[in-house]
Amino acid sequence: MLTPTRLRPGLSRLFPVLLFLIGLLGLPACEAPQGSASGVPDALVEGPGPQRAANGMVASVNAIASRVGAEVLRGGGNAVDAAIATGFALAVVHPSAGNIGGGGFMVIRFPDGTSTAWDFREKAPLAAHPEMFLDENGEYSREVHHNSHVAVGVPGTVAGFAMAHEKYGSFDWTGLVDPAIGLAGDGFELSEALAGSIGRSLRSMERYPASVAKFSKDGEAYEQGEVWKQPDLARSLERIRDQGRDGFYLGETARLIVEEMERGGGLITEEDLARYQPQERTPIRGAFKGYEVISMPPPSSGGTALVQMLNVLEGFDLAAMGHNSTAYVHHLTEAMRRAFRDRALHLADADFSDPPLERLTSKAYAEALRAEIQPEKASVSSPTDITLPVESLETTHYSVVDSQGMAVSVTYTLEAGYGSKIVVPGGGFLLNNEMGDFNAGPGLTNARGLIGTEPNLARPEQRMLSSMTPTILAKDGKLVAVVGSPGGRTIINSVLQVVLNLTVFDMEIHEAVAAKRFHHQWLPDALRIEEDGMTPEALSALEAMGHTARMAGSQGSTPSVFLDPETGELIGAPDPRDRDGGAAGY
Ligand code: GLY
Repeated sequence: MLTPTRLRPGLSRLFPVLLFLIGLLGLPACEAPQGSASGVPDALVEGPGPQRAANGMVASVNAIASRVGAEVLRGGGNAVDAAIATGFALAVVHPSAGNIGGGGFMVIRFPDGTSTAWDFREKAPLAAHPEMFLDENGEYSREVHHNSHVAVGVPGTVAGFAMAHEKYGSFDWTGLVDPAIGLAGDGFELSEALAGSIGRSLRSMERYPASVAKFSKDGEAYEQGEVWKQPDLARSLERIRDQGRDGFYLGETARLIVEEMERGGGLITEEDLARYQPQERTPIRGAFKGYEVISMPPPSSGGTALVQMLNVLEGFDLAAMGHNSTAYVHHLTEAMRRAFRDRALHLADADFSDPPLERLTSKAYAEALRAEIQPEKASVSSPTDITLPVESLETTHYSVVDSQGMAVSVTYTLEAGYGSKIVVPGGGFLLNNEMGDFNAGPGLTNARGLIGTEPNLARPEQRMLSSMTPTILAKDGKLVAVVGSPGGRTIINSVLQVVLNLTVFDMEIHEAVAAKRFHHQWLPDALRIEEDGMTPEALSALEAMGHTARMAGSQGSTPSVFLDPETGELIGAPDPRDRDGGAAGY
């Protein structure tokens, strides 16, 4: 174990250079933990596959960002510090979801077993109101709701990171932002996956010159292997490094955001930015087969729905059914159907409504739901029930554990891939389109997929309902795993299945992450299973039970960290679905 020491600011500025040198040397992935008896920090272990290390571990969608976090751990930072550094790095190297212009959640489990949840979800601006997504004719406008300056929520990420650092960090703030500044200012080599993703997004950015300028060479797409520099973003990050949260919410950056809002008819004002505050919240906790489940409370629906589903499923012998068997998929689907119905009917920002969390997460309620489930017949999601809106599959998750056993689970987002597609001119960062996670408008529920129920309507300073489910598992007072996922509403079901893979099927963490997943969300009444997720015969059997099921695509990304109870080592497991994913530890 290392004694935490703060990096001096001068030394910490060398971090990006060191990172690039390590990257250029192309150090091979090392899967064996290194000893630390000499007192010299152990060498980094890193790679796209599962990694073992004795002292600290980060797993994320991007190997460069994981390395940044692991270097902070190796330099003496704790898991909160490493999570912040990883988050800033992802804002540079994973621009579709990593961000400073969005928001998210951080769940922390401390070495003594206590836990907390950090809510830095975006807020509606002060000028927001329930009818704000209607056009001048009073008609609902999908464009306004999801694809406009009005769709931008007041960003929370920088304030969330700054306050988490103030309360729980131990490392010099400068050393957490500098690696990202280096990556943005000096540039980094574009992978095939990232060059392709940026290239595909360019058309959707055509309306915004600053976005085209940032993401292309005068409109021409970048190619794999080119060094991509983001000088405006580097300067925005420098202001955050030098002034903390004020470097984003006041002064130059705030001015640039507000100017862009005024240019595009957005609602965010200087007052909105200055007033933004993250919230520390009490996590949702559940018990499942002797495991403690710690997850995100409202404004996320994730923790509540996860615990509700686990409670329902605890009464079935899932192991006997067999992983991804017809019976298993059927029973999980029935639990999902019910949890997503309750999500739509009851869940929203608890600062503005009173969701019945205790009832939804109680064993008694789960028993009543379980009794409704027929072993061989699909229920029907009532066609008179509410239909749910389309939700983006973007967002990103990462998992961190430090040498003291502090565990941090972060999921944060811009909502859609590349958010609103609006880069703040001169600021170099994307703004979210998170207002799309509010309901469309009062009474607008219809069969075409709109929802207009009260609790999640846009109101001044309310936070929009989320599905993000950063989660930590523990058993007998000891950490077991840190998990989470992107994927809109599929997030909750992806996390559910990783938890079941670990706790019911005793899979190794990399198997639990890689295993095929499926999703049902009540409405539309459709079950989607990942490509090759089950045999055609098993799929036919599900259809014979009354499920509308199909196999297609892939679901989520669950980079996780697991504490091996036998060796005490940490295992970082990137998700093989992520082409640039990686784990790094020491
Ligand atoms: N925008 C995705 C979520 O919050 O669930």
